[in-house]
This record gives sequence, C-alpha cells and structure tokens, in this order.
Amino acid sequence: MIRFLTKAKLKDKRVLLRLDLNVPLDKKGNITDDTRIKKSIPTIKYILSKKPTQLIIMSHLGRPKAKIIPKLKLINVARRLQKLLKQNIIKTRDCINIKIPNSKIVLLENLRFHKQEKENNRAFAKKLTDYADIYINDAFGTAHRKHASNNAITKFLPSYAGFLIKQELEKLNLKKPKKPFIAILGCAKISDKIDLIKALLNKVDKLLIGGLISFTFLKAEGYEVGLTRVETSKIRTAKALLKKYKKKIILPLDVKVALNPNAKPQTTHIDKIQKNKIGYDIGPDSVKLFLEELKKSKTVFWNGPLGFYENKKYKNSTNQIAKLLSKNTKKIKTIIGGGDTANAVRLLEKEFYHVSTGGGASLEFISGKELPAIKALEINAKKFKFKIITD
Ligand code: 3PG
Repeated sequence: MIRFLTKAKLKDKRVLLRLDLNVPLDKKGNITDDTRIKKSIPTIKYILSKKPTQLIIMSHLGRPKAKIIPKLKLINVARRLQKLLKQNIIKTRDCINIKIPNSKIVLLENLRFHKQEKENNRAFAKKLTDYADIYINDAFGTAHRKHASNNAITKFLPSYAGFLIKQELEKLNLKKPKKPFIAILGCAKISDKIDLIKALLNKVDKLLIGGLISFTFLKAEGYEVGLTRVETSKIRTAKALLKKYKKKIILPLDVKVALNPNAKPQTTHIDKIQKNKIGYDIGPDSVKLFLEELKKSKTVFWNGPLGFYENKKYKNSTNQIAKLLSKNTKKIKTIIGGGDTANAVRLLEKEFYHVSTGGGASLEFISGKELPAIKALEINAKKFKFKIITD
C-alpha cells in the first residue's frame, strides 16, 4: 500500500516533489507538447494550498547521459510552468550542491546532468532530501526506472504519491475489464513487447495487430512481406503465439505498400505483397475488420499507431480507429498507452477514458511488472508509519 498526498501534513514543511516534466522538444528546444506539465498542475496546486514553507520541484528532461546539454536545461519548462501556475518560479543552476533560493516555488535543474541519478545513488538522493521534510512522487512516466530521485530517495524522507500517479494506477488497472476486452497493438518489434503481448493475450478476447510488428506475424504465417523490415529472430515466437492463440489474434487482411516512404502507396491483399515493396500501413479492408471488432467491445487497450503515422499518407488507419473509439466513450472504455499512441491521438484532440502520460511505465504496469518507484513508496509507507517527524 502506498500513501497518497492527501494523507501528508504539508503545512510549514519543505516539500520535495518529483515530476516527470520530460516533454517533447523541437530542434531549438521549444516545448511541442506540454501535456505532462499540465497533468502535474493539480498536485502542485494542492501542495501550495496546504501552505508549505517551500515547494521544490525536480525532474529530468531527455537523456543527456550525465553531460550538461544546453537544450536539455529546464528553463523552458520553468517558463511554461510559471505561465500555467501564474506564480514566480526560480530555476536553480544545478540540482545538487546549491543553496536553495528563497522562493515559494523552486525548480531544480535537470537531474540527469548527474550520472548518480540513473545509478540510483544513495548519497546523491540524500543530498536532494537535505532540501526538504517530505517527499512526493508524481512522476508516473518515470515509475519504471530505478533512479535516485524516485527510488533511493524514499530511504530518507516520509514519501507519498501525487494525484497523477493515483489516477494512472487506477485507470490502467485492467484486472477486471468489462468484456469484450480488445487490445490493439501497433509497435515495431516483438522482442520489445513480448511481456506485454503475453500479458494481453492472457486477458483479452481479441488482439488486433497492425504496425510493423504485423509483418513479422504475416511472415510467420508464410506470407511474402517484400522488403519490409521484419524481426527474423522472432518468427518462431510469432508462430508459437499464432498457434496457441489462433482465435484471439487478428492480423491485417490487406496492407499499404510502396517502393520507399516517398513513393506512391498501393493497397494490396496480404497474399499479393510484391518482393520489391515495403509495407507501411494496414489497408482499408483491415481497418473495416478492426472497426467491426471494436464496435462490439466494452474495454480497449491500445498501444502503437497502426501504420507509419509520421507520414501523412499512412495516418488514415490510426485516425479512423481513434475516431470510432472517441465517438463511443460512453460505451467503450479506451485506455491508451503513452508515447507514440498518445501523441498520435492527442493531435486529433479527441476524448478517451484514459490517455497515459507514461510510455514505458504504462506498458510495464499493464504487463504486470513491478514499478520500482511504486515499490519504493510502498516500502516507505511501512518504514515511516510510526516514525514521528520533527522540525
Ligand atoms: C518517458 O518519457 O517515458 C519518461 O520520461 C522516462 O524517460 P526515459 O525513457 O528516458 O527513462
């Protein structure tokens, strides 16, 4: 059992809050999607409403590999946060070995500028906790990582989870989904997602497979897939899954192929893929088949666009599925894994039951894996249960 924010006594305390403000950036470092910042606001506002002495926020941004990368400094994040909160924020020049400025809200510089963050280093975590009396984690997107700011840190302070973590854990819970339960999978590789595929196949009534991964399954069924990049080392795995879950797995009937990403696409039945072509999307008959299945569903879990979504010629299948699911939010509970799928549906500005802010974290949670940051909060809840924290 983890403890949630509402159980914490925050008045006159220095609160250290870990958020996942790892937002997508353009080449110049401008924020292209601030969803993760916006989703952190309820927790920040709640903490401030409890009149803490100070709120110190920390996050990572990108993967700087322990080097100071100017584009990955948190200055634009601080500006956006300040605009959304309508309150001043001071961003520090580093996250450790600094004097915390005298400001109600402080944002520490990118944690991943230090290698100790990813190493889950205790001394580094301890230095962070020296700034505060209470630790709150609301960085769901990072919950599958075992890092100093979300794992080792809980050894030193009473620790609680924020509202975003609470919402994600509740909404991603697929223990008792309303049936029929259908999953849509559109990732690139079987090897990356094997645990997820197995976990889903144990739970779902149907698994609809699109995206690049579908060509590995088509190859396993004996179809010619042309020059499409299939995962040859996983053909046997695909064959075994197709045999074991014959009635559950639904593969495309037709696909869109072309000589290269810029060439004109052509729709072809799966038994007519030419040797010199590359597959980029599922075809209209497959979309129709998927839509018919989805219309019968009550719960849907969706991970991965169905085609090469970044190219507008291959957006249609993903868009059509998104449209159907968003039109039927009352009847179908759709849960969308973070990352690419979340980005794709966000562009359509449609509503769904839940769009996760976590890419890897949401998939690991659905696969039934333990999330190290959540585990750390659980251990902390037991350890700090009877300890009296003094000023
Ligand atoms: C994410 O974007 O999924 C999280 O912020 C975690 O980032 P990471 O994959 O670089 O650890």
